Amino acid sequence: MSSSTAADSTARLPALPSDVDETFLSDVLAGLRAPRKAIPPKYFYDLEGSKLFDAICELDEYYVTRTELGIMQEHAAAMAASIPGKVRVVEPGAGSSTKARLLIDALGERCVEFVPVDISGEHLQMAAEAIREELPDVTVTPMVGDFTAELPSPASGDGAMTLVYFPGSTVGNFHRHEAQTLLWRLRRLAGRDGMVLLGVDLKKDPTVLHAAYNDAKGVTAAFNKNLLVRINRELDGDFDLDAFVHYAFYDPTAGRIEMHLVSRRAQRVHVAGHAIEMGAGESILTECSYKHDLPGIARLGQGAGLAVRKTWTDPDSAFAVVLFSADATAPGDEPRAHTLRAVTNR
Ligand code: AVJ
Repeated sequence: MSSSTAADSTARLPALPSDVDETFLSDVLAGLRAPRKAIPPKYFYDLEGSKLFDAICELDEYYVTRTELGIMQEHAAAMAASIPGKVRVVEPGAGSSTKARLLIDALGERCVEFVPVDISGEHLQMAAEAIREELPDVTVTPMVGDFTAELPSPASGDGAMTLVYFPGSTVGNFHRHEAQTLLWRLRRLAGRDGMVLLGVDLKKDPTVLHAAYNDAKGVTAAFNKNLLVRINRELDGDFDLDAFVHYAFYDPTAGRIEMHLVSRRAQRVHVAGHAIEMGAGESILTECSYKHDLPGIARLGQGAGLAVRKTWTDPDSAFAVVLFSADATAPGDEPRAHTLRAVTNR
């Protein structure tokens, strides 16, 4: 085992798409022109949005991150014991990779490579450096990619099996059929003998869920409204923040949190010179956060050619970390190609 140099890994980084802002603009315009206005939640995470999300994770009401971290701390050794042989850990959407590090630590020498994948190449290089310092024995190979589009496959041939690690209940941002497509992609990335380790937030007392997205300090409200701040800055928008209300609720029938920005009054807003009319009380849906249950997760996996191997939860069953193996009897391809957009307008 050797740690790769920064030059090595840079060489394997594909070029960044230059149209990021145009995609942001066209997604925002399309979302605001739809009959039910919506903006995809992936746009929350500019620098300020990422800071606000970190602040959310510190809130008393927001149990999600701390609960998942607790499960990893408690059970990483058991997880490692359930994963055989030499392992390459691939993490799509890797942020600071705090949870992945717990897993990699537990795998010890059996972890031959760590492949964090993220849309932001800059972020990724910084995170990769931090990980290299902490895990000098592991080859860290960052790759630029968008898991909502296509995932680049890491090079193989070293006999290690691929474990795709997808923590953070990011899967919750996808409608059920899209979640299915996402899991198909993770399975394809893992390959025939691979495994997928998924972190999922679970259904629970709706008042607990409600509080988690309606914190007393208003951090979640600021996180939600920061989307408008970002549009104002990056897309020459003129949203008046005081003219919108953060409104989040749990729909137990759909099993999801919906986050909205509701217009306080009839108004005309502009984005890059395009006028958008909003009625009094009209909403922009900014996020759906699905909550799952264990049978539902097993079904979701099954539909994507993944069989549940083991599940770890916290004592309150608030959150689950589920280990799947690729089901060799399942077909190798997605049955139907759904576009993965994590769009929220239905
Ligand atoms: C990062 C998608 C898991 O759905 O709980 C937190 C994002 N939104 N508070 C979630 C979020 C509002 C979070 N995920």
